[in-house]
Amino acid sequence: MLLALAVIGVVYAALSPETGRAEATVSASVKDVTEGKRLFDQSCASCHGLNAEGTKTGPSLIGVGAAAVDFQVGTGRMPAANPGAQMPRKRPVFDDQQTKALAAYVASLGGGPAIPSKEQVDPATGDAALGQSLFITNCAQCHNFAGGGGALTGGKKAPDLHETTPSHIYSAMITGPQAMPVFNDTTVTPEQKRAIIAYIVETREEPNPGGFGLDRLGPVSEGLVGWVVGLGLIVAAAVWITAKQREND
Ligand code: HEC
Ligand code: HEC
Repeated sequence: MLLALAVIGVVYAALSPETGRAEATVSASVKDVTEGKRLFDQSCASCHGLNAEGTKTGPSLIGVGAAAVDFQVGTGRMPAANPGAQMPRKRPVFDDQQTKALAAYVASLGGGPAIPSKEQVDPATGDAALGQSLFITNCAQCHNFAGGGGALTGGKKAPDLHETTPSHIYSAMITGPQAMPVFNDTTVTPEQKRAIIAYIVETREEPNPGGFGLDRLGPVSEGLVGWVVGLGLIVAAAVWITAKQREND
């Protein structure tokens, strides 16, 4: 029994993706952590607490990982201006180096997902066709079919994905900001994540055929709208002509 447990433990540890993350966390330099702590005390501690333990105005950041900080600070959501509301994407306050330092400090408090490497998020190596079907099943219900974004309940909204960098798309999936679910590596494998990134980037490059795009809802709905509006105009014209004729009679 004990032997079986030990074997399972070893096999699990060998297969578990967490081990790589722990190593990545350890390798962050001491200098980054010190600098990160300094920046944190200035700009984040008022809401997240002096030791990132959380306060009434901000959640605890222990265990959220470097990826969460890189996403939140890198997309300009943090430092938040007003607590409570959904934090919008805005121009980042910190440069890359400072963001990495903040991420290293938060990671030093207790693991969590690491910032993905360049290779992990390279859209050129992702299968965009596979990405499209994965996007439709996992993401489109909130972000719309071509990543145009959409409203959610409770005044929240899923933002458009037209500007997000590949690295931040990956981080969003592994950290699940706010109302977004976490897509861990068992649900969506790293390779599938890269495929999704390839698809999102490809939809940006696709030339828009022009006209009133309706945020690319697709040919069926565009046709339907054209039909309904067009028919409406014809009916209106018919009514107008009849009315004119009556006036003339
Ligand atoms: C005005 C208060 C405020 C300030 C200042 C602030 N935060 Fe936040 N932070 C919040 C709130 C509130 C949330 C939860 C937001 C949400 O769920 O959308 C949050 C969420 C986060 C998260 C996501 C946690 C998770 O579970 O994924 C990270 C990471 C984060 N903040 C980092 C920072 C860093 C780093 C700074 C400083 C550069 C900072 N915050 C400054 C209020 C603040
Ligand atoms: C249940 C709804 C929901 C689903 C499903 C969902 N998201 Fe999100 N997503 C959100 C919300 C809400 C936000 C905004 C979070 C915030 O502002 O803190 C978001 C934010 C993002 C962002 C950040 C965009 C920016 O502003 O820079 C990316 C990238 C993203 N999602 C990608 C994805 C991908 C890829 C999938 C599918 C694998 C997915 N999302 C599935 C709700 C969702």
